[in-house]
Amino acid sequence: MSDRYQGFVSTPIGKLLVKNLGLPSPTPLERWREGAPLVDGPVVLGGHGRLAASLRGVLDGLDVDSRTDLPEGERAKALVFDATAITDSAGLVALQQFFTPLMRRLRTCPRLVVLGTPPEQVAGSERVAQRALEGFTRSLAKEVGRGGTAQLVHVSPDATDDAIASTLAFLLSPKSAYVSGQVVRIGTHGATTADPVTDWARPLEGKVALVTGASRGIGEEIARVLHRDGATVVGLDVPQAASELQALVRELDGDHLVLDITAKDAPQRIAHHLREHHGGVDVVVHNAGITRDRRLANMADDRWSSVVAVNLSAPERITRELLDQGVVNPGGRIVGVASIAGIAGNVGQTNYAASKAGVIGLVESLRDDLSDGITVNAVAPGFIITQMTAAVPFATREVGQRLNSLSQGGLPVDVAETIAWFASPGSGAVNGNVVRVCGQMMLGA
Ligand SMILES: NC(=O)c1ccc[n+]([C@@H]2O[C@H](COP(=O)([O-])OP(=O)(O)OC[C@H]3O[C@@H](n4cnc5c(N)ncnc54)[C@H](O)[C@@H]3O)[C@@H](O)[C@H]2O)c1
Repeated sequence: MSDRYQGFVSTPIGKLLVKNLGLPSPTPLERWREGAPLVDGPVVLGGHGRLAASLRGVLDGLDVDSRTDLPEGERAKALVFDATAITDSAGLVALQQFFTPLMRRLRTCPRLVVLGTPPEQVAGSERVAQRALEGFTRSLAKEVGRGGTAQLVHVSPDATDDAIASTLAFLLSPKSAYVSGQVVRIGTHGATTADPVTDWARPLEGKVALVTGASRGIGEEIARVLHRDGATVVGLDVPQAASELQALVRELDGDHLVLDITAKDAPQRIAHHLREHHGGVDVVVHNAGITRDRRLANMADDRWSSVVAVNLSAPERITRELLDQGVVNPGGRIVGVASIAGIAGNVGQTNYAASKAGVIGLVESLRDDLSDGITVNAVAPGFIITQMTAAVPFATREVGQRLNSLSQGGLPVDVAETIAWFASPGSGAVNGNVVRVCGQMMLGA
């Protein structure tokens, strides 16, 4: 499934029209390939907050070339500013002083990251200033251009020094190609430490990952990426998709489960399978989902109930069963797949948006109650090019793909990489987040 507009604007006539009509001209995004460096170029560090001292060591551990200044004539691949020392509004000028001289000295698809303190963990003028970082970073994400992204990472003072490594590895690398304008929280909701990652190329070695709806689309890519990262993947899908599912898990040397997640006994069957065949599960990705769009005035009962059953009730029941039975191993990762429709709402999608907002509710309802280092997070994809979006009418699809800061749709791998970041043992302090994978889409921004 291709982006026809992006293909067109790279032709000579397309380039001419883009120039003369002021049409968006999307930069082809870099995506990470196995064996490539995490960050292909220098990372310039700024700011003198509490994280600055450990930042250099964290980036060295990721084999990333970081420095505090950029020699004449060189361009940076990424900028990281530790803003945790900013304690009042006057101090915000430090952001301008660091970023302005470097904004014209960036390579293609640059990565910009601001580190701050969760505003609710400080008070008075400091809280005001830390809250201001969000508007700055979201605007930066809209301005950076050329396939670049910008994010704000709130690091709790309770988080250990190494807790930030997996998040920087993700946000500074091409793995976060379609994630922009996001606020990520580290060390909140009682999760403050990360397990050591011995091999950043295969962080999930020895782990078992359940992926629902794995036979195609985003789920297939999640299975591939988790397998690449070392996990044994248990793919799950409905009987109608059994042959595609089996072919995939054969290729990935994994295991499969053919069932409908809305079946009454599905949670028990899944729990039984994972315990009997794998001794438990480390990563649970609730990806299976459906749309049955109609305006509410025309909504038939079955359209409403099937969407809520697949997208929300099933993930909730399965999660609770796996947790209650102790099938989720210590350090386990539960990941929901929401949608920006669940944040912004969408015409014809009251059923879908309710179910996806409910997935965010599931994260919120569990994040403070989990024990044994288990975390829960969700992705909220925007416009991702799959069979699901191929069903969207042509004009809506074309417009939908442009309404974001990167002027293009995302790929299933962009969602999969975000899930792999949540899944990493290094992400033990990443709990209770809902991260949009939407190229900073204007819907619900
Ligand atoms: N594609 C997008 O732009 C987009 C945007 C936001 C969110 N999402 C979400 O991402 C997830 C994957 O979307 P996709 O585009 O790959 O969809 P898709 O339709 O290509 O794949 C969904 C998979 O889920 C499986 N499935 C459906 N009902 C099931 C059930 N009852 N039991 C077990 N498996 C079931 C399907 O057989 C299919 O393999 C969904 O949750 C979707 O809502 C997608």
